[in-house]
Amino acid sequence: MKVGMLHSLIRKEEKYLIEEFSKHNDVELVMIDDRKLNFVLGRNEFDYDVLMERSINHSRALHALRIFESLGVKCVNSSEVATVCGDKLLTSIALQEAGIPQPEVRVAFTEESALAAIEEMGYPVVLKPAVGSWGRLITKVNDRDAAEAILEHKTVLGSYHHSIFYIQKYVEKDGRDIRSFVIGDECIAAIYRESEHWITNTARGAKAYNCPLTDEIRDLSLRAAKAVGGGIVAIDLFETADGISVNEVNYTMEFKNSITTTGVNIPEKMVNYVLSQARGNNE
Ligand SMILES: Nc1ncnc2c1ncn2[C@@H]1O[C@H](COP(=O)(O)OP(=O)(O)O)[C@@H](O)[C@H]1O
Ligand SMILES: [Mg+2]
Repeated sequence: MKVGMLHSLIRKEEKYLIEEFSKHNDVELVMIDDRKLNFVLGRNEFDYDVLMERSINHSRALHALRIFESLGVKCVNSSEVATVCGDKLLTSIALQEAGIPQPEVRVAFTEESALAAIEEMGYPVVLKPAVGSWGRLITKVNDRDAAEAILEHKTVLGSYHHSIFYIQKYVEKDGRDIRSFVIGDECIAAIYRESEHWITNTARGAKAYNCPLTDEIRDLSLRAAKAVGGGIVAIDLFETADGISVNEVNYTMEFKNSITTTGVNIPEKMVNYVLSQARGNNE
């Protein structure tokens, strides 16, 4: 069986995955560097049974997946999942359509209408670029002065993406959120991410510790994964007084801080899932 792995840098995560693939004698793993790749549209030079996407760059991942799929290569995750998860607004729409609880979200297209939306919601709110990760440019807005300033900055200095205003109600989450991991139709593990800062990405210094899987976490995670198209995803959850709500879903999941923390061999499970999805081997 031939497996392609689309990547940028080889991070710790990719090293773990390569090691797991190497345990399968019948698997030939081909590394595909997205910095060197070029496609001839319509020419299929790829005979992979399945392609695993591990690119760091969302737009490269998204476009490469779309091309691979058009050439008939089965991809994990699919371009559909990358499209939805790569954009917080599309994710929120998918969650909404599936009836999954999430913090209140409003969307506006001008400074004035965004300010009106924020004033209606009440402070604090969080403004987010629809496309982004690692907590970058996520902004907590505590009052009208800050709202006016950030909206003007986004409009004047931001790329056109920043004029789609994605506004979320701030959730009091007691110093932590939950990150759960879903592979296919199994929720395999979860961690708490704790920080003194309101932004709890581990990339921003939050500490990870094991979060026992409750039925609520498991069910909500599986529903959220299904809502965005399934596959291998990591889900950010907030604990609230009214139960757990889904903040976002990530499609090229990072897991290096979660293996010893949870005691679950996450890369092994990922590799087994990818192999199960290979062409001709679909269940
Ligand atoms: N509405 C919110 N209320 C409280 N904290 C939030 C909210 N939105 C984001 N955060 C914090 O910021 C972090 C990063 O936000 P997130 O939406 O997950 O974007 P990213 O794609 O950058 O991870 C979250 O893990 C959480 O700690
Ligand atoms: Mg996140």
